[in-house]
Parts: sequence; structure tokens; C-alpha cells
Amino acid sequence: MKIAVIGTGYVGLVTGVALSEIGHVVTCIDVDPSKVEKLSKGIPTIYEPGLEELIKKNISSGNLHFTSEHQNGLPDAEVVYIAVGTPQRADGAANLDYVEQAALDIAANIKQNIIVVIKSTVPVGTNFHIKNLINQHTTNGVHVKIASNPEFLREGSAVKDTFHGDRIVIGTEDEESAEILAQINEPFDTPIIKTDISSAEMIKYSSNAFLATKISFINEIANLCESMGANVEEVAKGMGLDHRIGPDFLKAGIGYGGSCFPKDTNALVQLAGNANHEFNLLKSVIEVNNNQQVLLLDKILNRFGNIQGKRVAVLGLAFKPNTDDLRESPALVMIPKLVSLGVSVIAYDPIAVNNARKQLGTEISYTEDLTEALKNADFTVIITDWPEVKKADLSTYNQLMKEPIVFDGRNCYDLDEVKKATMEYYSIGRPD
Ligand code: UGA
Repeated sequence: MKIAVIGTGYVGLVTGVALSEIGHVVTCIDVDPSKVEKLSKGIPTIYEPGLEELIKKNISSGNLHFTSEHQNGLPDAEVVYIAVGTPQRADGAANLDYVEQAALDIAANIKQNIIVVIKSTVPVGTNFHIKNLINQHTTNGVHVKIASNPEFLREGSAVKDTFHGDRIVIGTEDEESAEILAQINEPFDTPIIKTDISSAEMIKYSSNAFLATKISFINEIANLCESMGANVEEVAKGMGLDHRIGPDFLKAGIGYGGSCFPKDTNALVQLAGNANHEFNLLKSVIEVNNNQQVLLLDKILNRFGNIQGKRVAVLGLAFKPNTDDLRESPALVMIPKLVSLGVSVIAYDPIAVNNARKQLGTEISYTEDLTEALKNADFTVIITDWPEVKKADLSTYNQLMKEPIVFDGRNCYDLDEVKKATMEYYSIGRPD
């Protein structure tokens, strides 16, 4: 099939590359010529394990093309995917400007009847709106059918998730479009759910809201464990063995971040509100997460009282390991609070330092060397469970820091190992 993908962010790029890998001829379109220039040379614009090899391979085979001109990618395409961003507006709702612009670009450039597939996470009802927008603006008598095909990949394991996903959801208005999309996706060898468009849109929001709920639930349990003398890891293990609960997404910590859970939970609360439905459960999930992100600060202040003038090593800036993405990272909440309390921060991250500098500025220092961060620190705060941090020899804290005091927001270390090491250690939902 000849396919065009509009938007080369996380979702668009991985989708385009994966579709080319399974044999389709794909043109990825992005309005940013500098991105297109890099991608055309086989240089990925995001950090994602396994992606570079696939881009290079499929450019060489002739299956994968990049362009910044809509007229180069759209006229031949039989199916066009929209995978542009839907960032959060100030009121919590999803901003659809980029999706609407993509719709107008499609209308201006297609030469045949096609299926438009929306991959971007959009509020329920948006697919119909976009279909109407395109069909109102085509000039040469052609029209489009619309399909919702939400994305479930995770940053950091996007390639793996795309080829080994749990399900592919296809929402259409008619059986013929559903069949065409099922054929396109068949080589992924992943169960396909065919459904209506509104249900497909709801599946995406509900899945992210449910996962966020699991995290906030276990974080509340963790906070309770601290008062009860229990260990949240033991509790999560015991709960997770019940197959109705499952073991995943029960890792307590300093809260969820990233470009999806915060945005999508807020958008669903907003959507519910528009339908006169107060989504109180989800509002609490969001509130628990906001509190969780600053929980370590209370622990730090309880331990020290005043922290003015102290040197602090912050380990991890990205919202999770294996990505250089800082969007909604707890680091963006914690670090400014620490700075406002008069500490000097040296922040370590193996790959997110460049992105962090743009957002956190020059008030703090940065390093990609873990030992450099720990040298002479008065205390350490762990924000991201990077493998480099998890596998660190615990004696290095004692060797390098002024005093080995560690506040671990990701429960990186085994409590028995901590006992054997010389360190003062505070984690989440586990006995100190
Ligand atoms: C999430 C979903 O997992 C994907 O299925 C979805 O496609 C994606 O959003 C999206 O909507 O595009 P992602 O944001 O990449 O993916 O990251 P996750 O691996 O889900 O982690 C999100 C946050 O939750 C991270 O900050 C992570 O540290 C935190 N988390 C995750 C926990 O605190 N505890 C857990 O047990 C799991």
C-alpha cells in the first residue's frame, strides 16, 4: 500500500518506519525541514532503541521517504495517517490546531478517495469533525473516509511495542475501511479489535486513565505503608499475583510524568465535564500524582530542617529511563523547589542533559557522569530509575559524597543491600 504519515514525532515516526518495515511504501511528512533533512539521511530525531537501524534499512530498500512538502507525499497515497501532536491547552483540553491543519493539507492535496487514519490522541467526536473538515475543503470531487487507530506504544520501547503490541484498535464507520486497515496491519501479527469510531477514541483515553489510576493507587498505598510499617513492594507483589489485578504498573514512586498520562487524564476530566459528568475518581488520580511529585521534599525537610547552601546530586532528569524526554518529568517540579530553598544542584542524566538545559536553564549544573554528580554532595535525590543508577555500587555513595544520605524516588535499591552499605536511605513506601 502507498501510505503517507503526517507528523514525525514519536508516534508518527515510529508508525511510518514500522509500516515501511512490514512492506508498505511510506512517505513521512513534517513541516519542519530540518527534521526532514536529518531523517532523510537516516539520523533519528528522537532517541528510541532500534529505530535508527530500521530507518536506514527502509530508506535503502526504497520503502521509506521523508518530505516537508505535502504535495510530494499526499497525491499518491491510498491511506493517510495523521500523527501530529495534541498538546494540552491551559484549561486541560486537547489542542486540535495541528490535527485541523493536517486535515486542511490533506484536503488541498489528495487526488483520489482515500482513508484518513487518526493516530493522534483526540477527544471523542474529533474523528467525525476531521472527516467533515476535509470533505468540506476538497476541490476536485474526491472524499475521504475516516478511521480511528489509537497508539499504545511507550517511549523508550516504542519499536518493540509496535511489533509486539497487545492489540491494534481500528474504529471505522464501515466494514470496507476496517478490512483495508486490518490488511495493512496484518503483518504485525497482533490481535486486531474492529469497533466503531467513538469506542476506539474512548479505548485510548480509558486505557491511559486506567494505567494512571493504577499508579496513583499504588502510590497512595505506598504512603499508607509508610505509616503502617509495611513494604509497598511486598504488597504490590502479593496483589499482582491475582490475575484480575496483574503485576504491571504497580511500581510506587514519585509519580507518573511524560507527554501522555498527565495530558490525557486532564483531557478526559475535561471531556467528562463537557458531558456534565464529574469524573471524581480521575480528578483524585491527578491530585494524588501532583502531591506525589513533591513527596521527597517533605522527607528531605523532615531530615534536615534547613537545606540552604547544601550541595545536592539529582540523579535522573528524564520522566523515565531510556528516553531523553523531560515532558512533565517530576524533575521539573522538584529541581525548581530545591533551588528556591537555596541549594546548589548538580543534575545527572545519561542522555537528557541537553533537553534539560533548555528547560531548567543555567541555575543548576549538569553532568553525564554519575561519579561527578555524587562528588561532595550533602545529599542525593533519585528521580529516574536509569540502569546506570540502579546498578551503581552502593559504596560509591559513601566514598564520594560528604555524607551518604540518599532520597530515592524510584526504589532503585534492595533494602538488604542498603543495610549492608554505609548509607542513610529513604525510599517510597518502604521502611527506612
Ligand atoms: C504511556 C502508555 O504506557 C502507553 O501505552 C501509551 O501509548 C502512551 O502513554 C501514550 O499515550 O502515547 P509513556 O508515557 O511512554 O506511555 O510511558 P510509561 O512507560 O507508561 O510511563 C509513564 C509514567 O508512569 C513514567 O513517569 C513512569 O515512571 C511512571 N510509572 C509507570 C510509574 O510510576 N509506575 C509504574 O508502575 C509504571
